[in-house]
Amino acid sequence: MKALVLSGGMGLRLRPFSHSLPKQLIPLANKPVLVHVIEALKALDVTEIGIVVGERPEKIAAVLGDGAELGVRLTYIQQDEPLGLAHCVAIARDFLGDDDFVMYLGDNVLTNGVVEMAREFRARRPTAQLVVHQVADPRAFGVAEVDEDGRVLRLVEKPEDPASDLALVGVYFFTPAIHEAVAAIGASARGELEITDAIQWLVESGADVQARTYTGYWKDAGRIDDVLACNRELLDGIKPCVDGEVDAESELIGAVVVEAGARIVRSQIIGPAVVGAGALIEGSSIGPHTSIGEDCLLRGTEVSDTIVLARASVEGVRSIRGSVIGREASVTAASADGSHRLIVGDHASVEVAA
Ligand code: G1P
Repeated sequence: MKALVLSGGMGLRLRPFSHSLPKQLIPLANKPVLVHVIEALKALDVTEIGIVVGERPEKIAAVLGDGAELGVRLTYIQQDEPLGLAHCVAIARDFLGDDDFVMYLGDNVLTNGVVEMAREFRARRPTAQLVVHQVADPRAFGVAEVDEDGRVLRLVEKPEDPASDLALVGVYFFTPAIHEAVAAIGASARGELEITDAIQWLVESGADVQARTYTGYWKDAGRIDDVLACNRELLDGIKPCVDGEVDAESELIGAVVVEAGARIVRSQIIGPAVVGAGALIEGSSIGPHTSIGEDCLLRGTEVSDTIVLARASVEGVRSIRGSVIGREASVTAASADGSHRLIVGDHASVEVAA
């Protein structure tokens, strides 16, 4: 089985970060979302991975390369315009050949994985098998109507009046029959070739389309609050490991990762938390649920429930919470007269005490 990872979205909801970084490279527990996705695919014994990229493909290639470091083989497939998930399948036709494949949205976080579902798909080989998740309000998703044996009766993309609470999470197992369906459908009202419509075409042609319900944590890391929530969730699963230096006046509490070359000086780190390679934490309190990227500097600072990206610095600022601080950004204490000096990039968002 091959995999097709869809990594073309623009990430408008992740501005300002997505101005300079494809949204799939936002780090969660110090690893880009896409790396978590590739690790999830490796857990299915899938190593032949096509990755559909849109804008700034070179940034993704600079991080993932040919996949060798992650133990996979990556083939990049360029999508020049965001014409839909089924369009991605169409342009990946040569890469996919006549193999079965798992299609996985590149900003999806499913912490429990889909190993069991992959095993079942390989054993039973229905025409397609979809991963669904019960959600309170499925109107923003593809929605599946499923019979008691898990067979899909009908699929509708973003229905106003959903017939069930089962949302498509963005992980699909396909046999090559999907290609005929993709070729048969037309564009939706939003001008895209919807994979939901292609699968519905299979259902209408009498094919065996199955759905399996995923019950663990699921989110698409599409907005800042979702990114922070995914970060918390992934940090909750980390194993403590100290490769960097922790001085005698510092204290690590709970699951803390201190990567190689990081230095913790006169500080308290409350897990779960990750301190990236080469970072310096001095006179600070970090965590819980905080990821500090590589080569960051945090001095005289209290930070919790926050992601600090690589090479950023925070000095003399107490009680930073629920924040995301971009690469090479600098946050410092206000001047003595208490006024705020802000140099804030496009589409950034800042909250200061009134
Ligand atoms: C896409 C799919 C939708 C699915 C969702 C999962 O929606 O079209 O069926 O439920 O991903 O995140 P989009 O993100 O393109 O609006």
